[in-house]
Amino acid sequence: MISKDSVATVAQIISLDKSVLTKWVTSLPPPTLELLFSVINVVRGTWVAGYGLRNNYGMVARSIFLLLTLVLLCPGEANEGHQLRPTFYRDVLPVLEQHCQLCHRSGEIAPFPLVTYQDARPWARLIAESVSARTMPPWFADTCCGHFSNDLSLNQQELTTIANWVGSGAPPGNPQDAPPDPHWTKGWNIPPPDLVVKMPRAVNIPAAGEVEYSYEIVPTNFPDGKWIQASELRPSARDHVHHAVVYVRPPESSWLRDAPVGVPFTASTLHDPHLMHEAHSTTSDLLLVYAPGSSPENWPTGTAKYIPAHSDLVFQLHYTTNGHATEDQTSLGLVFIKGEPKQRVLTLQLANDHDIIPIPPNTDNYRVEVEGTLPNNCLLLGFFPHMHLRGKRFEYDIVHDDGTQETLLRVNYHFYWQLSYRLTVPRMLAGGTKLRAIAWYDNSRRNAHNPNPDAAVQWGDQTYNEMMVGFFDIAVSPAIGKEQFFVRRLAGEK
Ligand code: HEC
Repeated sequence: MISKDSVATVAQIISLDKSVLTKWVTSLPPPTLELLFSVINVVRGTWVAGYGLRNNYGMVARSIFLLLTLVLLCPGEANEGHQLRPTFYRDVLPVLEQHCQLCHRSGEIAPFPLVTYQDARPWARLIAESVSARTMPPWFADTCCGHFSNDLSLNQQELTTIANWVGSGAPPGNPQDAPPDPHWTKGWNIPPPDLVVKMPRAVNIPAAGEVEYSYEIVPTNFPDGKWIQASELRPSARDHVHHAVVYVRPPESSWLRDAPVGVPFTASTLHDPHLMHEAHSTTSDLLLVYAPGSSPENWPTGTAKYIPAHSDLVFQLHYTTNGHATEDQTSLGLVFIKGEPKQRVLTLQLANDHDIIPIPPNTDNYRVEVEGTLPNNCLLLGFFPHMHLRGKRFEYDIVHDDGTQETLLRVNYHFYWQLSYRLTVPRMLAGGTKLRAIAWYDNSRRNAHNPNPDAAVQWGDQTYNEMMVGFFDIAVSPAIGKEQFFVRRLAGEK
């Protein structure tokens, strides 16, 4: 029988490394390969028919022919042939579609598209370098812990394909080998939205200086509650947006009730100290968080976010200046589901922004932690850690009753990329589970993003201050909102 074991045995008989032979065979130009193949078939036919090859070379020759046959028959090895001489349309484009075009297509955040051969060819060498250095696609989860469905990293075979394609002169190949069109939605990374909510007024962003968080309250006027399958924020001045959040303010909420509606405001324009304080603290559920590079929310089938009837959406935007004055009018795309989902998604946070002393100057591993206990059972879906310029590392742990900890996610933090991390397999957590988030900060010279290693860093909104927020998403019964979730149920009680 033909098996990989027999390839190894034959290779052993003729004292050759199997992979060496495989490489040699698959590197032959196609006409030579064809010729070889036909010779093999003839010889194999002869051999199988019982004549054999009896002289001293017989064993070796037979083995080589057998090995060549095996190599050519074995699909895995044939694939290696493609990998050694990959072409753009057949081998590289599928990788770009699946791993790169989310950002590298027109209108998205990457500086150039990687959609056509003409797009990709000039970047070939840089593509090979960035994928092998794993700087592209951006991904910062430590491989120690967890598997995440939005991890776009290339596997070894895909890396080899790219390396060999570039190594062999980045040939186009045959356009007919191209994979099917991925059908990206133009202007969105979610399915075509059922509703686009645009902030009614643009926010002016100055050329320089610090910009306080901007808010804009937008009534939905939804006569009925809406279940949201997917949502995406699209700032119009993307280069100026450090992060953005949309909160859902249900009609019974008193949060920012006295603030203006439909126009931008900041905490300090509110004058009333109570309102000013309120701007920064809310228990309202988050619809979504946006930061450069973050993927839009697209909840797993059967789960959805909920916007109760007559809710308002509260946009909170943190703009940064970059020398050019401009204005921003962010849009929110919403995809509704019909009927009721099986579970409702809530976004919670493990945050520490009050009781912590400033980060001392010239320290490279300053640690801050926060713990919380889940009041009720829930399904854990994913994470979104948030820090500022001194951010170094962030992790989420379960602290078990015996004191041992289990790390669910560890992120080697990169300020430029604030990403979400969605569990490939969501995890059931029982009420009473203790969660811990730990953040480390590098306030030393070694941190290339550090604006001033000699400063003690206070906690606050601006990027030269620090933050420690470990957002995480859970799914619960559709009837349970954020407030109900925090009402602790006793064991056994329904
Ligand atoms: C999440 C969005 C995103 C994804 C996914 C992504 N890129 Fe990028 N890529 C960017 C952005 C943004 C930049 C510009 C980075 C910068 O300015 O530092 C970039 C820059 C690059 C560069 C230029 C690198 C350099 O050193 O200047 C290359 C090459 C590149 N990407 C290739 C790829 C390839 C190949 C893939 C897929 C395997 C990919 N990218 C996936 C967003 C992305």
